[in-house]
Amino acid sequence: MAISNTRKLLLLPGDGIGPEVVREVKKIIEWLNKNKSLDFKIEEELIGGASIDAHKIPITDEVFYKSLECDAVILGACGGPKWDKLEFSKKPERALLKLRKELKLFANLRPAICFEQLVDSSTLKPEIVSGLDIMIVRELTGGIYFGEPRGIEPIKNNERKGINTHTYTTAEIKRIAKVAFDLAKKRKNKVTSCEKSNVMEAGVLWREEVQDLKDKEFKNVELEHMLADNCAMQLLRNPKQFDVILADNLFGDMLSDEAAMLTGSLGLLPSASLGSKDKNGKLRSLYEPVHGSAPDIAGKNIANPIATILSLSMALRYSLDLDKEADLLDQAVQKVLNDGLRTKDIVSKGKKEVTTSQMGDAIISKLN
Ligand code: IPM
Ligand code: MG
Repeated sequence: MAISNTRKLLLLPGDGIGPEVVREVKKIIEWLNKNKSLDFKIEEELIGGASIDAHKIPITDEVFYKSLECDAVILGACGGPKWDKLEFSKKPERALLKLRKELKLFANLRPAICFEQLVDSSTLKPEIVSGLDIMIVRELTGGIYFGEPRGIEPIKNNERKGINTHTYTTAEIKRIAKVAFDLAKKRKNKVTSCEKSNVMEAGVLWREEVQDLKDKEFKNVELEHMLADNCAMQLLRNPKQFDVILADNLFGDMLSDEAAMLTGSLGLLPSASLGSKDKNGKLRSLYEPVHGSAPDIAGKNIANPIATILSLSMALRYSLDLDKEADLLDQAVQKVLNDGLRTKDIVSKGKKEVTTSQMGDAIISKLN
């Protein structure tokens, strides 16, 4: 019996610059099919505001089930001012949060690497960011993003109260901490775990459970606990002290935007959101750039597609067992930067400014 090597990729371009950057990824997948004898089957569907416009809801059941069945989801971005006034539960971002929660993608990996060619694009001094290589491990399915009770309710005097709840259990903390420790072992062997144990009980629990896991299973990995506000400050003061940063959903959201800017541009940062393997050994996964929909520059063909292209490279590595192809793609990005090609967000004196599609084409020419 012939074993089919077909792998299904679901592309969800979404809103804002999402469609522009995902278009470049699609070209690369097509190149891989043609030149590397791979058999990726691509499906493309609406999500977020684009789905609201067409179907009145941010994600349809049909698209949701496709995301369960495919080998990896690659998402552009969700949201924009056009849908800001919608009721909370109908906003574009709910689609993304539903995918994360229902696919149980609890581990969000956000690497912040400062490419040598772009040291001058950072707003920080070159000696502070040169050689920077941090991995942020963000918990993605718990904490204040999902805690109950939540809502806005009337109180006396015609006033209202907004409520969100921050909770974490031992199991939730330990499973994400394990991801951080396992990654650290393959890197510089250090985890910095962030919380606010000085003001939050859930932070105290976070600190204790991470420490307990280290003492029992990861004795040889260095563990440092740091208050999240201090971590935000240290990222600017001396970011190279970090190897793996472990944080909950909300602190991880904020610290990863900050870390992104150390590398020069939010347009460079990919991310992988991973679940655990199911009983058939299948890993659920979603890959997306960290940058979001950037409505101010949407439709102008000036967005940087590198974050999304590097997200594809993470998909090749983590979900598709194609390390060689991932290396090839990473190298192609490096070569294009070496040639001095830059999208608007990272252009500097003496470099050549290119459009989104020119950047994609240049990366493909380096694959060749
Ligand atoms: C991110 C984004 C999302 C988040 C939004 C779009 C819901 O900021 O992935 O970092 O807050 O998680
Ligand atoms: Mg964010």
